[in-house]
Amino acid sequence: MKHQEIIEKMTVEEKAAFLSGKGEWDTRAIPRLGIPSIYCSDGPHGIRKQAGSGDHLGLNESLPSTCFPTAATIANSWDEKLGKEIGEALGEEAAALDVQVLLGPGLNIKRSPLCGRNFEYFSEDPYLAGKMAVSYIRGIQSKGVYACPKHFAVNSQELRRMAMNSVLDERTLREIYLTGFEIAVKEGGARAIMSSYNQVNGTYANENQHLLQDILRREWGFDGIVITDWGGSNDHVKGVQARSNLEMPTPGLDSARQIVAATTNGSLLMEDLNNCVDDLLDAVLVLNDKCKSGKVDLKEQDHHDLARRAAAESAVLLKNTENILPLKAGCKIAVIGDFAVEPRYQGAGSSMVKPTFMETIEKAVMNYNFNVIGLSRGYKRTGEADDSLRKEAIDIAGDADVVLYCFGLDEMSEVEGMDRIHMRLPQNQIELLQAIAQVNDKIVGVLSGGASIEIPWHICCKAILHGYLSGQAGAGAMLDILSGKINPSGRLAESYPVRYEDTPAFKYFPSTERNAEYRESIYVGYRYFDTCGVHVQYPFGFGLSYTEFSYSDLRIDEQGIRVLVTNTGDRDGAEVVQMYIGLPNAIVFRPAKELKGFSKVFLKSGESKDVHIPFDDKTFRYWNVKTDKWEVEKGTYQIMVGASVSDIRLVKELEVEGTTSEYPYNPANLPYYYTGIIQQISDQEFETLLGHSIPDGKWSGELGINDAVCQMYYAKSRLARFIYKILTDRKRKNEEKGKPDLNLLFQYNIPFRAIAKMTGGMVNMSMVYGIVDVVNGHFLHGMGKVIGGFFANIKSNRAYEKILSSGKGLKE
Ligand code: BGC
Repeated sequence: MKHQEIIEKMTVEEKAAFLSGKGEWDTRAIPRLGIPSIYCSDGPHGIRKQAGSGDHLGLNESLPSTCFPTAATIANSWDEKLGKEIGEALGEEAAALDVQVLLGPGLNIKRSPLCGRNFEYFSEDPYLAGKMAVSYIRGIQSKGVYACPKHFAVNSQELRRMAMNSVLDERTLREIYLTGFEIAVKEGGARAIMSSYNQVNGTYANENQHLLQDILRREWGFDGIVITDWGGSNDHVKGVQARSNLEMPTPGLDSARQIVAATTNGSLLMEDLNNCVDDLLDAVLVLNDKCKSGKVDLKEQDHHDLARRAAAESAVLLKNTENILPLKAGCKIAVIGDFAVEPRYQGAGSSMVKPTFMETIEKAVMNYNFNVIGLSRGYKRTGEADDSLRKEAIDIAGDADVVLYCFGLDEMSEVEGMDRIHMRLPQNQIELLQAIAQVNDKIVGVLSGGASIEIPWHICCKAILHGYLSGQAGAGAMLDILSGKINPSGRLAESYPVRYEDTPAFKYFPSTERNAEYRESIYVGYRYFDTCGVHVQYPFGFGLSYTEFSYSDLRIDEQGIRVLVTNTGDRDGAEVVQMYIGLPNAIVFRPAKELKGFSKVFLKSGESKDVHIPFDDKTFRYWNVKTDKWEVEKGTYQIMVGASVSDIRLVKELEVEGTTSEYPYNPANLPYYYTGIIQQISDQEFETLLGHSIPDGKWSGELGINDAVCQMYYAKSRLARFIYKILTDRKRKNEEKGKPDLNLLFQYNIPFRAIAKMTGGMVNMSMVYGIVDVVNGHFLHGMGKVIGGFFANIKSNRAYEKILSSGKGLKE
């Protein structure tokens, strides 16, 4: 132990209380021993430090900070150097605002395009997600602030996010859902990690020994702190046994009492408690030490400029027919779309930042050499039809050389706590686009949105520039590209299928009742489309440039590849060179291609560079479920280099010695996994893959403490069903208004037990059991527990506080 001396002085009560939050964002200090507290803040693309009282979804005002493009956006840059610069800026702002732990980056896998938080996550590919996360983590931590990659793990849906069980096989877990975290921990050196809300194969992530002990600590050598997601702890004693260090946000002293009781009755070893305290103490002491090294400025203008450069480097040019872009100087343009006036630049939820400054296309366009002949909002962002706006837009469109149409996903589509139900843009936006196309066929679509969408309307646009959610300086960045000042170099970090029905998890997402069954296994995103030859609108890795690049002279040795890339066009620009690996006729089923390396390279017109992409320990590996370790299959691998997963320019073969002596599967029992046609995997085949039967996820009978409020529709108590109805009505009305009410969504999805974790000691677990009794129709019995529990809780809280302030408690 690093801090044995301090730990020896601590009472058991102090140790137990130390392991949970004091307020919404901070930990408990122990002044008697000179132990200070640390302060955490969201979030991944800006600092959301609340000035007054904290509420974790950010309804209360937060202090201004730079709103960088979200992770889904920056992933399109494929630029680790840029990620590091953003990380450094985030670290500087965190330090300036006295924040010691920054709750990000988020690197869950974009399993389905519909996950409500996809805008906060990097990619459908774990390698790219991991590498980008590393760059943020290194940047943030270089400023003396801990990064806290989240949400560990398999947290790819929002529906009942706090109470659902992700069911998947070990290989899929390792290869798809953990690899990004592995890279973040091993290469990024993350000092903190946030456990996710959900269960993984029946055990809450925060108390999952396999995830937190076997993999995170033992295999990856993580020696930092594990922090629960807000309200995500189920049983803190089990959390401590799994070496989860900090329960957030405000469970009061109830969890601490449970820990003390568990050490007294022997169900929790003192050694486990001490280890957890030691990790957290180390973080608190190191972070407070770093804080002393002096205050830093917010550097508002520098960071705004960086946000702009980042948005420009990340925007993806999807289409550019007849080279309509870049726009000609002096051309007559009509600017149409509500997003030109009020941009969509970030998603809703805990990551929402109050920007220091906000650019809009409406204002920024005046700084460019265009003849702006008119501007119209064109459509209502809440989806209703508006004939006068539509007429106004069509009138100005008719007179323009080019129409800039600013549109995309609306606010309700990208919300923490709620998944989308389809992949389309709002119908009124598409109808207006089609109407404009009737009067002017020179339309340049400027898209906003942090997740994949269906684009059947692409034929209405001559060009499409996708800015994703481009942060506070996105408008200037888009105009820099449209005007040709900057050559676009973003490449998609996710696939754009033709229609939602084509996606691999279509049948399995979000979840049936309790279980989210990951039946598609390793075939996520392009791993499925590419293997099965499913045509997509825009493939993973795709993006156009105003110049062109040629690839030649591919050389391969044991260490990696070298390839000569030349800018053959007449403009300077950057290319993202991508390396994919495949093993035709593999004995262990696998996708046709997997990304195993990339490099972004800037080339002047006519310039060539020899690009080196190294192999690493992930290049040829697969997870063998028979031997329970990473193995390499022997064979002749294809090393493919290209500009997207569907645009492979050069291929060479490489003989690789394998490690496998025992093969994990019998192909006859997994026929569909062997073909990749996984949209309708039978129970039997899924069970073969899992290696056990599918757990029963049916809801029935009485509700338990882990069931969510939104399940009360089958509660025995009329009162509970009535409350459910009120909440559901309010949620529906709110959705119709088009402005997400985050707290309502949170309440809707919250499991009963989490009430005790987020009420600052007002509610304890025995009261929660009372509430559940009431919900199950045992009103008097339940109310008895709630009322009795309430008074008992106040008394125990006081008694515990007294012990804490006296410093006289149980000794080891
Ligand atoms: C989110 C986390 C966030 C935390 C604190 C949770 O609801 O899932 O990503 O860091 O709240 O705001």
